[in-house]
Amino acid sequence: MKRRPNLTIRFVAGTALFSVVLTCAAADGEQLLASRCAGCHNLTGPAPATLQALWDRKGPDLFYAGNKYKALWMQQWLQKPTRIRPAGMFYAAHIKPGPKSDEIDDATLDKHPALSPEDAKAVTAVLMQRKSGSDFVTAGAYTPGTISSSTGEMMFDKFRGCLACHEIEPGFGGLSGPEVYTAGARLQEDYLISYLRNPQAWDPKTFMPNKHLSDTDLQKLVHYLRLLSEESER
Ligand code: HEC
Ligand code: HEC
Repeated sequence: MKRRPNLTIRFVAGTALFSVVLTCAAADGEQLLASRCAGCHNLTGPAPATLQALWDRKGPDLFYAGNKYKALWMQQWLQKPTRIRPAGMFYAAHIKPGPKSDEIDDATLDKHPALSPEDAKAVTAVLMQRKSGSDFVTAGAYTPGTISSSTGEMMFDKFRGCLACHEIEPGFGGLSGPEVYTAGARLQEDYLISYLRNPQAWDPKTFMPNKHLSDTDLQKLVHYLRLLSEESER
């Protein structure tokens, strides 16, 4: 009879220890976010509501990361970050006059911190749980399909004027927006449909224009972005 309480105590202590271990593993990602990312990224919302707040933004908003990014891309990018916005978050702060036209002032642009594989995984897991804006995305809004690169490029450049702000390959295209040659690998298709339809629904002050694209054009542009990513992976 004497042994029973002992066993119970050991069992209770064991369970407590087990759940402490579990909580630590789960908290790691959040701790990393708080200590290493929150200084530059908005993790809780809302998006900037004034131009001043837009200009002061140090990194892209991540409070709807789970509706925006592809997890696999994020986990890989965080280990080996490449530049997405050729002239940084705020174009005007990172250009200087060049002989022919404005040039990017590389000295003013910092490299993004790189994470270990374990940290990248932990952080991606918690970021993918941030799902603000779910009201704006419809699962299955994008229907997979194809487009020729010449038709896609014509839409992106001539008809819709997207090329003025976005690079479709390194060194070709505008510099004020994010490059789009990895957008298909980086961003969820249903998010792209939603964002291209109404960028200001996600980011009220963004310079990305609402081009009032038709449903057909939205689908075609996402086919094209996917094609660009496939080509840039080759
Ligand atoms: C010193 C400021 C700074 C810190 C600290 C920082 N970031 Fe960033 N982050 C940026 C900037 C600026 C960009 C945009 C990079 C680009 O466009 O090339 C970015 C881009 C990203 C992106 C890609 C999103 C997109 O749309 O471009 C992710 C994901 C990201 N950061 C996650 C993190 C995480 C996770 C941490 C913490 C471990 C972190 N960042 C720490 C400034 C920072
Ligand atoms: C006046 C410049 C401008 C034009 C024209 C423009 N964009 Fe943008 N675009 C932007 C800016 C600025 C952003 C958001 C930047 C950010 O989040 O840091 C953006 C964001 C995007 C994104 C999301 C990229 C990401 O990584 O979050 C896509 C995709 C995109 N634009 C596609 C297009 C398409 C397609 C067109 C033509 C229909 C177009 N853009 C026209 C400036 C422009």
